[in-house]
Amino acid sequence: MVKPPVLLTRRIPSAAFARLEAACDVDLHDGASPLPADELKRRVKGKQALICLLTDKIDGAVVDAGLPDLKIVSNVAVGYDNVDVPAVKSRGVVFTNTPDVLTEATAELTWAMILALARRVTEGDRLIRRGDWRGWALDFMLGMELRGKQLGIIGRGRIGRAVAAKAPAFGMTAVYAKHDMSLDELLISSDVVSIHTPATAETRHLFDRRTLARMKRSALLVNTARGSIIDEEALVWALNEHLIAGAALDVFEKEPSVHPGLLPLENVVLVPHLGSATRETRTAMADLAVRNVLAVLNGQPPLTPV
Ligand code: DGY
Repeated sequence: MVKPPVLLTRRIPSAAFARLEAACDVDLHDGASPLPADELKRRVKGKQALICLLTDKIDGAVVDAGLPDLKIVSNVAVGYDNVDVPAVKSRGVVFTNTPDVLTEATAELTWAMILALARRVTEGDRLIRRGDWRGWALDFMLGMELRGKQLGIIGRGRIGRAVAAKAPAFGMTAVYAKHDMSLDELLISSDVVSIHTPATAETRHLFDRRTLARMKRSALLVNTARGSIIDEEALVWALNEHLIAGAALDVFEKEPSVHPGLLPLENVVLVPHLGSATRETRTAMADLAVRNVLAVLNGQPPLTPV
């Protein structure tokens, strides 16, 4: 029996890859960087499925290049701002993402970043490595205690709720924008603001000069969602003007570039988009993406359609 041809834009964990290879004829792009747009279009031709990552830009032209054979685009990520979803679906192609399986990993990283920022962990690490530690002192590198503070959450989806669920363990009260209070009220009253909303036209630069200036001067801003939600230029301004006390960022406007104004700031924690980066979660994401493809190619409904 002829196996259906599938394009895979990056190597995935071995169990998921083996499952895919057992059922499909896999064209794997094994390079270190994403497939250039032209090559993506050339290689998707004749494929019945495309498994892509958030670093691949999937627009109408890519889908057209795969038609009439292409049946499914399976994104190995829960966020899909890299994909023009209306363009995919309007061409009769199924689109799937990987929700649920990365919720806990992303919530854990969010807390790692909140704690690192509040307790100056990365700053202290840099200080020791520079050889600048002069010893214990009563007033040395004091941070912010979380107990008794308010955690403002932007986005009450799976990840926002998983982050909120861990707040009581640190003695924090979690509140959601739009549900418990308006965004403005949340910004004015929260000690830590954590972003968990998708990147859309509405959320682009939700954090700009105006909203950043609404936050407490002692507040910390954390983003593990998408870089486009914060105007990085405005964030650099707010940090330099001491309008907020610090920021922890896992995502950036132009990944892998980071605004140069963020690099010298000690009160900024920078993480290279690691929200879902645990062995368990990346394995589960790849597995779900493959299962979506196999379901659709077998004439079954996809597990996690968008
Ligand atoms: C996602 O799935 O959207 C994450 O950003 C990947 O880590």
